[in-house]
Parts: sequence; C-alpha cells; structure tokens
Amino acid sequence: MNLYKYVSDKVNEKLGVAVNLESPRNREFGDFSTNVAMVNAKSAGKNPRELATEYVSKLAELDFVADASIAGPGFINIKLRDDFIWKNAAAPEHIATKKPMTIDMDYGAYNVAKSLHIGHLRTSIVGDTFNRIARFVGHKTFSWNHIGDWGKPMGLIIAWIERLHPELPYFRNDFDPKTQVDFEIDPVELNTYYPAASALAKTDPDFQARAQEIKARFQDGHPGYFALYEKFLKISLESMNNTVKRLNILPFDYDLGERNAAGYLDDVEKILRAKNMIYESDGAEVINVKRDTDTAPMPPYMWRDSRGADTYDSTDLAAVYCRKQKDNPDKIIYFTDLRQSLHFEQLFRAADMSGIYPYSQFEHIGYGTINGADGKPFKTRDGNAAGLDDILDMATAAVRERVTESGKELDNDTITAISLAAVKFNDLLHDVRSDYIFDPKSITSFEGRTGPYILYTAVRLNSILNKVQSSKFKVQKEYDMNTDERNLLIQIMDFERTVLTAFDNRATDLIANYAYDLCQLINTFYHNCPIMRDDVDDKTRAGRLHIVRIARDTLATAIDLMGLKVPREM
Ligand code: ARG
Repeated sequence: MNLYKYVSDKVNEKLGVAVNLESPRNREFGDFSTNVAMVNAKSAGKNPRELATEYVSKLAELDFVADASIAGPGFINIKLRDDFIWKNAAAPEHIATKKPMTIDMDYGAYNVAKSLHIGHLRTSIVGDTFNRIARFVGHKTFSWNHIGDWGKPMGLIIAWIERLHPELPYFRNDFDPKTQVDFEIDPVELNTYYPAASALAKTDPDFQARAQEIKARFQDGHPGYFALYEKFLKISLESMNNTVKRLNILPFDYDLGERNAAGYLDDVEKILRAKNMIYESDGAEVINVKRDTDTAPMPPYMWRDSRGADTYDSTDLAAVYCRKQKDNPDKIIYFTDLRQSLHFEQLFRAADMSGIYPYSQFEHIGYGTINGADGKPFKTRDGNAAGLDDILDMATAAVRERVTESGKELDNDTITAISLAAVKFNDLLHDVRSDYIFDPKSITSFEGRTGPYILYTAVRLNSILNKVQSSKFKVQKEYDMNTDERNLLIQIMDFERTVLTAFDNRATDLIANYAYDLCQLINTFYHNCPIMRDDVDDKTRAGRLHIVRIARDTLATAIDLMGLKVPREM
C-alpha cells in the first residue's frame, strides 16, 4: 500500500480541500501533520484554530484515524490506528501504472578498444537502477548500449596497428575478406593503442592525417580495415560483457551503437535535405540549431566533418531515427556526463526540427564528476585518470583490509559483493547531478550510510528467517505493536511512494536513502525486540517474525533496484 497516498486521498476527500500532508520523522505527536487549517483560515473567515477544530472532528470520523489533534497556532496532527497499520503493512509488489510508457534508455555506451573510465561507472549504475525502477513501476523499457564503435578512435587504432605491423595484409587495398590472417591482438595491449595513438596524433600531423584518412575509408567499407576492426571489436564486446557482469547490471536489450546508427544515415539525410536543413560551413556540412531566443552560444550540429566522415552528431541523430522505428518510444532518456549537455540539446533540436522525434520527449540526465579528496577528478596513485576497474579494485582492497582487521573470514565472492555494494550504493546515494568525492575507506565502512551497512542488515534478516520453519509464520490477525515495530511498518508502507517519486523525479538517490532509513529502523527493532529468546511468548514471536519477513522483502526489493547482491554471511 502507498500509505501516504491513501491517507492523503482520504483526508482531501473528507475535508473537501487540497491538503498538504507531511510525514514527520518524529512520530511522537502524530504520523502525519498538516497546515491545512492555517492555509484556509483566511478564505473561510475563521481563525486557524477554530477551523482546525472543525477539521479535526471531521478527521476523527475516518476509520483509520486513531486521533486527530491541534498543535500550536493550528497545525493538525493525525495518528493512525494500530490495527489499520498492522492489517495493511505488506511486502512490496510490482506497481501497475495507469499509463505505461515505452522508454528507450541510453546508458553504458562503452567504447570499442578504450578501457572504461570512471565516467562509465555512473552512467552504468544510475542508468541501470533507473531502468529497474521504471520496470518496477510498470513501464516498458529498452536499454541501449550505444557503443562508440565507428568514429575517430577506430581510425586511430587502425593507424596505430598499421604502424606496428605494416606488413599485415589488412592494409592492402586489394584485401580479400576471405583471407585467413594469422594475427592475434592481446586484449590488455589493445587498451594501450588508443591512448598511444591519440597522443602521437597530437604531435605528429602526418599520423593524424593518416588516421583521419583511414577513418573515412573504413567508414566507406574498406575490406581490410573492416576485417581488422572485427578482430578488435570482438575483444571489446567480450570485455564489455565482463563489465556488465562485474557491475551486476541488467544485460542491455541492444548492444548497438554508432555503427548500427550509421546504417540509417542515408534515410536521415534524405529527410534533412528535403527540409533544406543541411548547409555547408568551412568545408563541413552542418545543421543550424540556433533559436532566436537563445542567449547562450549554440554552435551548429555537425552532420559531416570536413573530410566527409560521419560524426558523433550524425550517428546520434540516426540512432534516434532507428529507435523511433524499432521501439517507437514515448521517451528517450540519455545518461551521460553533464559535460555532454550541449551535444544533447543540439541533438534534441535537430531531431525535432527534422520531424524525426519531438523535443519534448527527450531527456538528458547529466551526472557530475567523481572527485578525489582534492576536489579534482579522481586519479590513481600514479597520477592517471582512474578507470572503472581501478575504482572497483580500490574498493575491494579497502573491504579486504577491514575484514582482515575485524578477524572475520569471508570468501572472495562475498568480498566482491560487499565492495560492489559499497561503490554502487555510494554512487546512488548522491544526487545524480552533483559531483561527489570518492573515498574507498569511508564507503566501505560497515556502519553509516554505506552499501555494506545495507547488506549487513539484509544478511541479518535473512539469517533470522533461515532459522525458523515456515510453520512459525502464522500471520496474526491482531498484534499489539510497540513503537519500534510500528515505526518500521510505517516506513515499509512508504516504499511504494518512494519508488514512484524516484521514477517521477528521475531521482535514484531516493531509493538509496530510503534503504538506509529502513535499515536504521530495522536495526533499532532488532536491538529492542527479541524474537527467538526463550522468554518471548508465541504470539509476540509470530508477530515479530511477520515484521521481519516483510521488512526483509522490502529491503530485498530496494536492494534489487540498486543492483546489489546480498551475500550469505558477512
Ligand atoms: N560513448 C560515449 C562516451 O563514452 C557516450 C555515448 C552516450 N550516448 C549517446 N547516444 N551519445 O563518452
């Protein structure tokens, strides 16, 4: 049950006015409160307390209200009946939204032959959780891993391999695609090619020109370049798969990126030409996306660069066209670094102007940077920009250290699960748009707002439930709750609202914070309410086991939405 909505609807209906309902953290005076009497006093020609008195007597008639009282100048506090809470608190179920949407989500978006950088962490974690939330609340989603598999880096990598192994037949213009070439690329070495090539291109204009030429001919279908490309593409796709597994994110519905989109460029070009949207500028072909109302600079959208090659811009527009055809989505949502905001603004305008996809149905969720203690983008000890693997490795080392210190013995899978939870939970905890500081030590603490704390609480509940037979789970019709039990159940009944708000506000941090609050209430309950102790009577034990079970199911659902894995022990 969505407790807040239920109470809010009934109160609105009863009083016949719009009521702004609050649920205070401290429930000493009531479970909900409202300033409705103060808001409406003037128009009702009464003083607030007078009006509050009238409201309170009406509210007392609602069958779920135990007590409605006035506080201060006219606040109203509402206390719910215990039996109402007991009867309605339940484990969460999938929510069936009234208007299910089809949503294309573009996240991950890894690049061929480039190791994943720290930015790919946030797009993967936030995008995946948002995808799970959207599905949970009843929408149909398609996740797109818009792979960088077509642009400039391909030219650089092929040019680099040409430099290393000029004798390979791939570089001949008469290369026959049926040729078996005895040449293997080492996956670790592959990741060094792009950085090396792009560094060289900066200082060596000949190499730069060569890479550009190769890129253009590759895109035109040069058979040798293409055969070589397929070799390293395969390695990259495998490593992307490993990343998906390592991060425990859902498999992508489409691993189709720039190259796939390039197949739609001709169709899109026809549309653009028919609308006279492409014009020439400095040898390149561009689209003007400026509006009269713009105050900030709005550069043209690059359709084709001065060498006639496809661009990040053109393939992104073609990808929209492709998605419209394949999925016909009600929304297309992109999760990338905030620094790509201008690109997406241009893309949305170009798509809208060409009639390919309406501006209003696009969204770009731009995330902030992961920084080090110095407030600058996180670097590894040797001063390099941190990669995704570095981050996970650092978290794992920190967890291992803690575990050793505490004298516990946990197997590798458990340590991996804990470190992943530490990284993901910490990422989700922050507002997507803000930067945050990555500190392996603090995020791996077993106490406080951390992933390990969340898992620890789940493990604790599981271990209670694993010890009791299901026959003990006889749900009690009535149960006399204490404050800790009551508070926990009310939090459980706030889950549905939290997930819906997280979806509506595109705010994955709400789930993480909810999970933390839930865990705190669970642990208070655990400390104050013995379950299996001999002096606990059967009725109390059964009641508490019921609470444990629905608390566990609620927490497990939240954990699943965050893509964390609960280990057997901790
Ligand atoms: N591959 C790009 C990167 O690693 C992100 C692509 C985002 N998606 C898109 N449709 N442009 O930065």
